[in-house]
Amino acid sequence: MGKGQDLYKKAKTLIPGGTQLLSKRPEMFLPDHWPSYYSMAQGINVWDLDGNKFIDMSIMGVGACILGYADPDVDATVYKAIANGSMCTLNCPEEVELAELLCELHPWADMARYARTGGEAAAMAIRIARAATGRDTVAICGYHGWHDWYLAANLGDISTLDGHLLPGLAPAGVPRALKGTALTFNYGDKEAFKTIVDTHGSSLAAIIMEPARGHDAPLDFLKYIRSETSRVGAVFVFDEITSGFRMCCGGIHLKYGIYPDIAIFAKSMSNGYPMAAILGKRAVMESAQNSFISSTYWTERTGPAAAIATIQKYRDRKVDEHIIYIGKQLQNLWQEAADEAGLPIHVSGLPTLGHFDIKGDDPLMLRTLFTQLMLERGYLAWCQFKVSYAHKQEHIDAYKSACYEVFKIIHDAIRQGLSRGMLKGPVSHSGFKRLVD
Ligand SMILES: Cc1ncc(COP(=O)(O)O)c(C=O)c1O
Repeated sequence: MGKGQDLYKKAKTLIPGGTQLLSKRPEMFLPDHWPSYYSMAQGINVWDLDGNKFIDMSIMGVGACILGYADPDVDATVYKAIANGSMCTLNCPEEVELAELLCELHPWADMARYARTGGEAAAMAIRIARAATGRDTVAICGYHGWHDWYLAANLGDISTLDGHLLPGLAPAGVPRALKGTALTFNYGDKEAFKTIVDTHGSSLAAIIMEPARGHDAPLDFLKYIRSETSRVGAVFVFDEITSGFRMCCGGIHLKYGIYPDIAIFAKSMSNGYPMAAILGKRAVMESAQNSFISSTYWTERTGPAAAIATIQKYRDRKVDEHIIYIGKQLQNLWQEAADEAGLPIHVSGLPTLGHFDIKGDDPLMLRTLFTQLMLERGYLAWCQFKVSYAHKQEHIDAYKSACYEVFKIIHDAIRQGLSRGMLKGPVSHSGFKRLVD
């Protein structure tokens, strides 16, 4: 069990829910056996509290570390920013430099504001859209954080946000007065979107969605949403918090040639340092001045310094080409290993945000078993793989032999009816769940 599990038990008595992020709960991976805490992370190597070293072939800091952990170039820039004072009565010049850089990468945009987390960036985009239009209602597709404006969609029917990444998000604490202000439609569902526009078009402040999630966008769907949003006078927001910098240097929408009024970024943009950007057209962004949007730590220096260093390295090294190449190999490898073992799996996702499901009577149990068996072989491995620049060919080759072996073990265990018995602890959680112990 180790020190990590002991500390996590203690954490649950001191921190409601045990962690600050649902996706970092050990129960999401391997209940009772996940290392849970790290003492050091470098490249793709992670050391737990007992000094065990693991290779991270899972989600790399929930997608935040696109260059790898403790990237020396980004860290050197951040150390310099700290040495020169990370906070001051005056503003840091990096925030102007970053705005210029982001607008250069996204020529449709003229201005930027900043926050430090993705959820904050989404909340700010919605506030700006409401201020710009003088309207209240928001149409939502996908996951956009934890704030009231978003969870309001679950007031009345807790399953409304099901299918939007995390099932069962509870809206307790969200004012009931917000009921009806957030309406949902599923990705690709033109009819559901049309119904919202037909019935609420004149009160719509914003439409917010990810340009792509599991796969490349159907362009006609995106074009339709873009044109309908303009027709009804709402603000079109692309949430690029996960998709940004995954398939090109900037938002994935650049690849599609479909441009929003606002795009929001976080995660990959700054390689693990807290930073988020709200990028938009001048006419919409200027509306931020009609509202009060202001916070002390949105002015600190390490976030923008890290973002500039990350984007420059990304551009210089053509990181997109590398991560797409590695990600495609991984997706092929899963399929080939499964075919060889006779294990039915389904591989999906953009190449740099790959995912697989083991098909069977109890897919969640089999996924948990995969994580357990890979952990025994020195890997933090899960059903998702978020590629980083630090993943090199040699890592893929080594992971390949472990994956072939583990898929074969799982297949044999299923055939002999032994798979559940091989698990050393409970089956992992799949979504939001209240922790009971
Ligand atoms: C598309 C999208 N929007 C918003 C968020 C929320 O970002 P954060 O966890 O930084 O608040 C996430 C996080 O996973 C995301 O993937």
